[in-house]
Amino acid sequence: MPRAELTAKRGAAQRSVAYNTRPRRASALLPVVPPHCTRTAGSTLDRHALFQRFLIMLSYRHAFHAGNHADVLKHAVVLQLLRYLGQKDKAYWYIDTHAGAGVYSLKEGYATKTGEFQTGIARLWERNDLPPLFADYVEEVSALNPDGQLRFYPGSPYIAWRQLREQDRMRLFELHTTEIDVLRHNFRDAGRRAMLYAGDGFDGIIALLPPAPRRALVLLDPSYEDKRDYSRTLRCVEESLKRFPTGTYAVWYPQVKRPESQRFPEQLKKLQERDWLHVSLTVSNPPEDGFGLYGSGMFILNPPYTLAKMLKEQMPWLVKALGEDRAAEFKVEYRGD
Ligand SMILES: C[S@@+](CC[C@H](N)C(=O)[O-])C[C@H]1O[C@@H](n2cnc3c(N)ncnc32)[C@H](O)[C@@H]1O
Repeated sequence: MPRAELTAKRGAAQRSVAYNTRPRRASALLPVVPPHCTRTAGSTLDRHALFQRFLIMLSYRHAFHAGNHADVLKHAVVLQLLRYLGQKDKAYWYIDTHAGAGVYSLKEGYATKTGEFQTGIARLWERNDLPPLFADYVEEVSALNPDGQLRFYPGSPYIAWRQLREQDRMRLFELHTTEIDVLRHNFRDAGRRAMLYAGDGFDGIIALLPPAPRRALVLLDPSYEDKRDYSRTLRCVEESLKRFPTGTYAVWYPQVKRPESQRFPEQLKKLQERDWLHVSLTVSNPPEDGFGLYGSGMFILNPPYTLAKMLKEQMPWLVKALGEDRAAEFKVEYRGD
């Protein structure tokens, strides 16, 4: 079915979120509830360390990377996790600790400087042999591009918003002052079902757990530009599991030439003996200069039992579509409960 037709069919049933890729004045935005514990993040750090962290955080803008191979893996998996939660009538929450701007332009601004989406969504966009998991994901991207031209890319908040039903809620954290403004603007018509927090997601999430319906997907998606993100993610999941052990937690991580990244999957596996799923996509050999992303992974605690099989069957297709050299591969590891 042509993409525009698919979109029209699904789009009619969806609630609309206006999207913009630039910040706007705050007047038209949703109320922003400050997170409870932003101060604890800095309380143990000296001023120099705090300033360093601030600089690293300011330099990262997800728009540079929107739609790259790592976003493809992350967003395709997040979509399936949400679909699974949506199978029961009972309400769920979607919590995004590192939300970003929500929607990105691929035709202007940062994304055009790197062209990273050419290594990801652009390679899937014109394909007519997509396996179901990736067809589903591309259809979500199509919803933002109804004329069939790939101009916009949905971030995780937007993908999640389209899956939310009346009874479901979303909670989004974003620390970057410009990104949160854009996110607020994009969700200005979302109403009380979407609460946006201008603050630290690692700390802020703790006060939200357990969520009232006792069903939730939590996405932890830091940029890891700051190497402390690795240990903060581990601590955050550990703490969250104590408060809400039955929640589904999805942790994205980069494959880069950094010891923290190399040992991260094994550390994640120690968070819980059973009931986890690990999927990774390596697209190339590590770059010789030592810099750059050559793959990524998603580690899911309390995943739907059906997901591992789907991934094992369909990841080989993704490796062929996005692989750059002979090092391209995937891994799926699953420990059921
Ligand atoms: C990888 S991007 C998020 C992408 C988004 N989840 C998506 O898939 O579309 C990471 C975001 O986290 C923000 N950030 C960095 N540190 C943060 C923190 N401690 N708490 C909340 N947001 C943070 C960055 O400004 C950036 O926008």
